[in-house]
Amino acid sequence: MTFWMQWCGLVVPRADRSAAKIIAVTGSVGKTTTKEMLRHMLQPSGRVHASVASFNNHWGVPLTLSRMPENTDFGIFEIGMNHADEIRPLVRMVRPHVAIITTIAAAHLGNFKDLEEIAAAKAEIMEGLVDDGHVILNRDNEQFEALEKAAIALGVAHIDSFGSSAKADFRMVEYTGGSEGGVLWAAFDGKTLEIPMGAPGRHIAENALAALGAIGLVGANMDAALGALATLQAEKGRGARHRLAIGSGSFVLIDESYNANPASMQAAISLLKDAAVPDGGRRIAILGDMLEMGEFSGAVHAGLAAPLVDAGIADAWLAGPEMAHLRDALPENVRVEYRETVDALKEFALGSIAAGDVVMIKSSKGTGCGRIVSALLETYPASLGPEHTE
Ligand SMILES: Nc1ncnc2c1ncn2[C@@H]1O[C@H](COP(=O)(O)OP(=O)(O)OP(=O)(O)O)[C@@H](O)[C@H]1O
Ligand SMILES: [Mg+2]
Repeated sequence: MTFWMQWCGLVVPRADRSAAKIIAVTGSVGKTTTKEMLRHMLQPSGRVHASVASFNNHWGVPLTLSRMPENTDFGIFEIGMNHADEIRPLVRMVRPHVAIITTIAAAHLGNFKDLEEIAAAKAEIMEGLVDDGHVILNRDNEQFEALEKAAIALGVAHIDSFGSSAKADFRMVEYTGGSEGGVLWAAFDGKTLEIPMGAPGRHIAENALAALGAIGLVGANMDAALGALATLQAEKGRGARHRLAIGSGSFVLIDESYNANPASMQAAISLLKDAAVPDGGRRIAILGDMLEMGEFSGAVHAGLAAPLVDAGIADAWLAGPEMAHLRDALPENVRVEYRETVDALKEFALGSIAAGDVVMIKSSKGTGCGRIVSALLETYPASLGPEHTE
């Protein structure tokens, strides 16, 4: 039986041909990060099959399902959408035991009226749950109540939640982040645990809480999963770090270039804030346009001024027509460099980064700030010396 036979409708791939415990992940951001985290955390517990990259649409989900070996113990599926009615048919094939909705945020906003509509589309993931299934929701998200209501209306057997809220089942008691990792204090099942995290970022810790919830619910080895978080690595384009040699010193590149929307921009700005910078070094945000923001575009770009200022970022290098809104919204004490195109900003960056700097690069995929990342990686070799020597 081939994938094409399945696609032609001859055979619909279904998860129940295997005894695997199935976890499905959706949300406006964090699907791939959470899916890869689950893959890493479940590895010690059995045979894991997970979506490749962001194979999360009407091609990627059936393909992932048809590739799943029958003897899989844990199947992890990323399910995405950019319009309503997209998740429903996919999740009915996947039939998860646990569905995670990471968060609801302004992504693909051009296709939706508001966040309520986005939440309703994400809620479709609950329609494919097995009879005794669990949904794990983000208790801190403003759409939590709407999603909980949808879960009740659908008769979902178990509704679990994660977040900082005192009511969360998997609760973030505290998080501290640094350059190379972080520590999450998490409370669940009547215990509070101190969990070292190999990759920094409060958003990564939030995803980890949801993942821990799923690990417990599918009966995997919790201690092994907790231990695996210490060796977690940020994914390419999603926080991966490079220390690059420049002159007789080095600078740090935080590659956030995979994609961007207001929620992931804020998360990346926090990462930059938490990164250690030596005396004389700068924290530089290199930002390109967020796409698919529709009529909200001007406001959401200008809206990045507040998180940048709150994070104390004094250098913002911006490219693209939408980023002009941010340029105009930033106060005078932020040093702004603005270029109309990503390639012009790339040339500027290549001539302007200095030893000691920490540079975070982010834009929507289509904007192409990944080209700046590639140019820096091609121009500057990996630094083998100690961090930030002058
Ligand atoms: N919980 C989170 N909150 C905010 N930002 C996040 C969160 N998790 C991941 N991110 C950031 O969002 C960006 C996209 O992450 P990721 O690839 O995991 O999302 P995705 O939902 O799979 O995206 P896509 O819809 O493009 O497949 C990355 O920059 C990542 O660092
Ligand atoms: Mg993805």
